[in-house]
Amino acid sequence: MENSFYITTPIYYPSAKPHMGHAYSSIVADFFARFKRIQGYKVYFLTGTDEHGLKIQRAAEKKGMQPKDFCDQISKTFYDLSSDLNLSNDDFIRTTEQRHKKAVEHLWNILEKKNEIYLSKYKGWYSVSDEAFYSEDEIEKADGKAVSKVSKSTVEWVEEESYFFKLSKWQNSLLKFFDDNPNFILPETRKNEVVSFVKSGLKDLSVSRKSFSWGIKVPSNNEHIIYVWLDALTNYLSALNFPDDKDKKYIDFWPASVHLIGKDILRFHAVYWPAFLLAAGIKPPKRIFSHGWILSGEEKMSKSKGNILDPLEIIKIYGLDPLRYYLLKEVSFGNDGSISKEKLINCINSDLANNYGNLCQRVLSFMERNLNLTIPSEIKFENSDLDVLNIYKENYDTLINEIDSQNLNKYVNFIQNQLFNANKYFNDQEPWKKKDNLLRLGTIMYTSLELIRRISILLYPIIPNTALKVLKIFNISENNIHFNSIYLNEFLKKNDKINTIPILFKKVEND
Ligand code: ME8
Ligand code: MG
Repeated sequence: MENSFYITTPIYYPSAKPHMGHAYSSIVADFFARFKRIQGYKVYFLTGTDEHGLKIQRAAEKKGMQPKDFCDQISKTFYDLSSDLNLSNDDFIRTTEQRHKKAVEHLWNILEKKNEIYLSKYKGWYSVSDEAFYSEDEIEKADGKAVSKVSKSTVEWVEEESYFFKLSKWQNSLLKFFDDNPNFILPETRKNEVVSFVKSGLKDLSVSRKSFSWGIKVPSNNEHIIYVWLDALTNYLSALNFPDDKDKKYIDFWPASVHLIGKDILRFHAVYWPAFLLAAGIKPPKRIFSHGWILSGEEKMSKSKGNILDPLEIIKIYGLDPLRYYLLKEVSFGNDGSISKEKLINCINSDLANNYGNLCQRVLSFMERNLNLTIPSEIKFENSDLDVLNIYKENYDTLINEIDSQNLNKYVNFIQNQLFNANKYFNDQEPWKKKDNLLRLGTIMYTSLELIRRISILLYPIIPNTALKVLKIFNISENNIHFNSIYLNEFLKKNDKINTIPILFKKVEND
């Protein structure tokens, strides 16, 4: 469908509770989903959990639990994360659901029927932590143990009968696909990595295991469990009820607009996934965007490293919107970024409490004291008003393009500049000195209110709770926010009453 937007997060392993890295991917995806909705798109935003495979089976065994019970317990913490982070996801998929099993079996059957899968024997390295096969040159020795050079996870030697997907056959088609779709993989550096990996030669991929039981069985051979990545990647289709299309979700939303992922799982998404789909005769997604790491000190924050930061702790102390604002503003999207308490506090005190919160309070209390909370009816824009107002129209297309190419920081930067401009405008115009010129006073206040409305719409995808509080001034609620109203210079209805709002952010002492 022309006007549809389908965005996904990775489905997370419920091997331990969510941490800041998971929160980051989910918040970023939520940002894009909310933006596209107010832009007028029909949006489907998916997240969920990836529950099969040896990694989960072993994690459950360690706790002395059945894998399904174990998954139910931890998957719930990821499910709850959606409300903790105020995510607007339309669906939450678990790979242990029936709808998913059906889709995976269907995809397998297509591949088998098309002769893309054959039975042979696998001999090589496997990392349970990454659920990935590695070739000899991707392995190094650390403390006498064989580990993956990239992820440093321990690998074990595996020799067993296995089905193989004819990945090697798809090498040239993949390269052509990357050429024809130059923005399929972003950022550019990630794309270059993938292209050189594919050019270096692809081997057929083992897509089943025989030595454990926790997963979806190969339909034609019950001794084999389907490789957890073939299983997991299919979630993006199964949430749309593939292969069923009676509710048209699949028709409306496939191919996905963006699979948002971390760079750890780039190869699975940018090589294996499009290869499976091309082989099955299904369109690959439109874009894989791979972001960087949230670091803990200098290291990647990860469950297996045990150096995690609990997003719920941060939210409890500083609030959700400050965390969302911080992650979207301070992490350069696509690169690594660390969580710094100083910078978080600075975001709260300077951007949120001062530039946004104070602006709202100053304008509202002036309106209350002098204009009875009524939108002025007589206005006449001068150049100084039009200068601040017209910036939005001038940048409208650019902003949409930035979003569509995931230039998130440019978008946030624009908001920061407009916050600065709005504050400067209010200070420079000195409405408190214009009480004997009601036309001028009214115009200044009308313009100031307009700026608050526009900035709040821009901020809505970033800090939805706060932005909605502010939009209540104008009785604008969530389902009547329209991005294209940001350049309508006379949007606010003259003589309408406005509402006051509580203080938005309290300043935080930096200890
Ligand atoms: O890989 N910084 O699940 P997973 C930023 N089940 N993002 C991070 C992060 C960090 N330190 N740590 C994790 C899996 N992430 C598979 C995915 S998809 C079909 C299957 C985020 O629980 C980031 O998005 O290990 C990363 O790609 C994902 O969590 C990995 O989550
Ligand atoms: Mg991982």
